[in-house]
Amino acid sequence: MNKPLFRLIYSSLRKENCDASEIEKILSACKKNNPGKDITGVLLHSDKKFIQYLEGDSKEILELYDLIKEDDRHKSVVMLSYGPIKSRNFPSWHMGYKNVSLDELNFQTDIDREDKEVFVSMIEGKKQNDDRGITVLKKFFESA
Ligand SMILES: Cc1cc2nc3c(=O)[nH]c(=O)nc-3n(C[C@H](O)[C@H](O)[C@H](O)COP(=O)(O)O)c2cc1C
Repeated sequence: MNKPLFRLIYSSLRKENCDASEIEKILSACKKNNPGKDITGVLLHSDKKFIQYLEGDSKEILELYDLIKEDDRHKSVVMLSYGPIKSRNFPSWHMGYKNVSLDELNFQTDIDREDKEVFVSMIEGKKQNDDRGITVLKKFFESA
């Protein structure tokens, strides 16, 4: 039987030392480390904030979260949502990722409302509109 899948969403504040080249290093670390742990997801950033959505085995994503929390390139890391999911929402991120440029991952804060909604429904699926984590996520984007 397949292992149960979990998702974890956190937000954080991007520190000033985290310039474009640091973002590239972070993305390289994702690309190098996540596939081996069977972790998929998406990392969004604006000038001031990060949101990362991780999905995979619960132990793997919690261990990764503990590591990421200590990273000096951001601060005020807050877990927004954690819980079981039936299937992956980003099944091929770690594979498709190689060809995705930084710009495509860089959801700037002027992203339009419709795109935000698409993003949110991608993450949560249709029937999770009442999920508290997602409410917070929406608020986060709206205040970004
Ligand atoms: C916002 C943010 C998101 C990160 N996401 C990941 C991630 O998904 N996977 C990962 O391996 N490292 C991630 N990192 C980097 C880790 O904190 C750490 O630097 C990295 O895993 C070290 O990898 P290495 O030991 O292979 O050099 C992230 C860092 C930040 C600031």
